[in-house]
Amino acid sequence: MKNAIILGSGNEGKIKEFRSILGTGSITLFSWKDFDCPFSVREDGASFWENAFRKASLTAQITGSVSVADDSGLEVDYLNGRPGIFSARYAGAHATDQENNDKLLRELEGVPFTKRGARFVCAIVIFSPEGKWERVEGECRGIITENQQGSQGFGYDPIFLVPELGKTFAELSAEEKNRISHRARAIEKLRPLLTKYVS
Ligand code: IMP
Repeated sequence: MKNAIILGSGNEGKIKEFRSILGTGSITLFSWKDFDCPFSVREDGASFWENAFRKASLTAQITGSVSVADDSGLEVDYLNGRPGIFSARYAGAHATDQENNDKLLRELEGVPFTKRGARFVCAIVIFSPEGKWERVEGECRGIITENQQGSQGFGYDPIFLVPELGKTFAELSAEEKNRISHRARAIEKLRPLLTKYVS
């Protein structure tokens, strides 16, 4: 496919975020949802970028097109970087966002504001059908609140405060979040690579 890249994800929310941040340029973004293939990747790599690499390389192999994939999560300073790569399943294999947030808040009970620093990380890998690849990373620093605030977004958004804005991610509109998020920052770094890989 000419001027196309494939996003190695079937997650509707993620596909929407990528499309909205990338905008309507000359490159068209497709995803696993546009193919009638059983994409299946074990996301149990030792790092964000290893998981992103697995998804991007498999997608490029199957589709024969330049592919990108991301993996992301929350690293809390006080917990030495946990939940990290276990962000989605922090409170158990099929944990809900609520259960994950509750577990994190419990672990930080009594921890003062000054020690509640954290960062969201997003690693993206771009992979060509010839096997050439590169990676980029974006981060957004914040503070873990003591209670949930806001109802937008997903995951740990209600307990992740952006100090400069005085709001949690869950209190921001999608446009506001897409301006500063870890994913937005990683996608900005990806932008020049897209033209390089697709031209
Ligand atoms: P994924 O595997 O990249 O989709 O993300 C893994 C997990 O990290 C998600 O299930 C969320 O718990 C968390 N996460 C990643 N990005 C965000 C975000 O922007 N807001 C809230 N939680 C996030």
